[in-house]
Amino acid sequence: MIYNSFDNPGLVKVLTFLQTHNTEYLSGQDLSDVLRISRVAVWKHIKKIQELGYEVESKQKSGYKLLANSDLLLPWEITSNLKTKIIGKQAYYFDSIDSTQNQALKMAHDPANNGAVIVASKQTGGRGRSGRQWISPKGGIWISIILQPKFDISITTLFPIASALALSIAIEKTFSITPELKWPNDLTLNGKKVAGMLVDVSLESNKIESLVLGVGINFNVNTKEIEKNLKGTPNFYGVTSLSEQKVDVKPIHLVQTFLVELEKIYKALNAKQIKKIISEWSKRSSTIGKNVELNTTDEKIKGKAIRIDEDGALVILDKGKTCRVIAGDVIHLSK
Ligand code: BTN
Repeated sequence: MIYNSFDNPGLVKVLTFLQTHNTEYLSGQDLSDVLRISRVAVWKHIKKIQELGYEVESKQKSGYKLLANSDLLLPWEITSNLKTKIIGKQAYYFDSIDSTQNQALKMAHDPANNGAVIVASKQTGGRGRSGRQWISPKGGIWISIILQPKFDISITTLFPIASALALSIAIEKTFSITPELKWPNDLTLNGKKVAGMLVDVSLESNKIESLVLGVGINFNVNTKEIEKNLKGTPNFYGVTSLSEQKVDVKPIHLVQTFLVELEKIYKALNAKQIKKIISEWSKRSSTIGKNVELNTTDEKIKGKAIRIDEDGALVILDKGKTCRVIAGDVIHLSK
C-alpha cells in the first residue's frame, strides 16, 4: 500500500469533513451534496477511510460519524496544517518498504521533491549508521526527508548532529522529557537508545546536490525483541521506546513537531548560526565531559570529550593533547 499527500483529493475531502464535524452524524446524501461527489463515491471513500484505521461509525438513518483518527502516519495527516515552508510539504506513506532511505535516494534529484517526507509503517531492510541494520517493526517512526540545501559542503557533517538536536527539542515539547544527545547523533533516555539519525549526501562537482536525512524513532516497539537481536553488535548499549514513558502522545503530533523544529535548525544552518546550534547541542549532550573510548578504523582513542567543533567533530583530550574525531562510535566510560 502506497499513498501520497496529493493524489487522493476525494478521500481527503470526505475525511476532512468528517474530522471537522465529528460531533454529529452526516448522511451519505449530505456528504454527497456538500462535497459535490456521488453517493457511491462517498461510500467508497468511507470504506477506504475505515480500512486505513480511522474509526467511523455508520448508523442507519443517521449517517456517518468519525469516532477516532488512524494511528498510521498517513501522508495527508503529515501535511495537514503543518507550519513549515519547505519540509513536509509533500509526503509519501508506505505500508512496508525495504528502507525509506533507499526510496528517498531514488527521488532526491528531482527539484520537486525538496522537503519531501517518506514514511513507512515497517521496513524490511532498514539501514543504520556504519552499514549496520536498523530493526524497524510496526510501531516505530521510520522516516526519511529529502533536502536540497544551499549551505556549504563543510556544514554537511554538522547536519545530522543538528537534526538530532531538533528531535530532542520535539520530544521535549511533546512528551515533556528531554532525551540526551550521544555523539554523534543518537538520542538516549536513561542511557538507552531511543532514536538515531543517518544522512546520505549526493555531491555534484563539490556542491551538495541533495541530502537525505533518515530518522528512526523507537516510538512504540518491543525493546526486548530488538535487544535480543542486537546484543553483542557494535554500538549496542540498550534500546528504549517512547511508549515506556506512559505519556499519551500521538505519533503524528511528534512527527509534525519534529518537522517544524527541523526546519528551524535548517534555516539556522543556512544562516550560518553554527555557534548557537553547537551550544544548544552541548547543553543536551551526555558525551561532553565524559571519559570516552572511540574505535576508529585505524586506532583506539581514549580520553575526555571536551567539545564539538564547528564541523561536528568530537574533540578528545588525552594527557594534555587534543585530537579530533569526525566519525565513529563513542563508548561512554565514566564521568
Ligand atoms: C543509526 O544507526 O542510529 C541511524 C538509524 C537511522 C534509521 C532510519 S529509519 C528511517 C530511515 N530508513 C532507513 O533505512 N534508515 C533510516
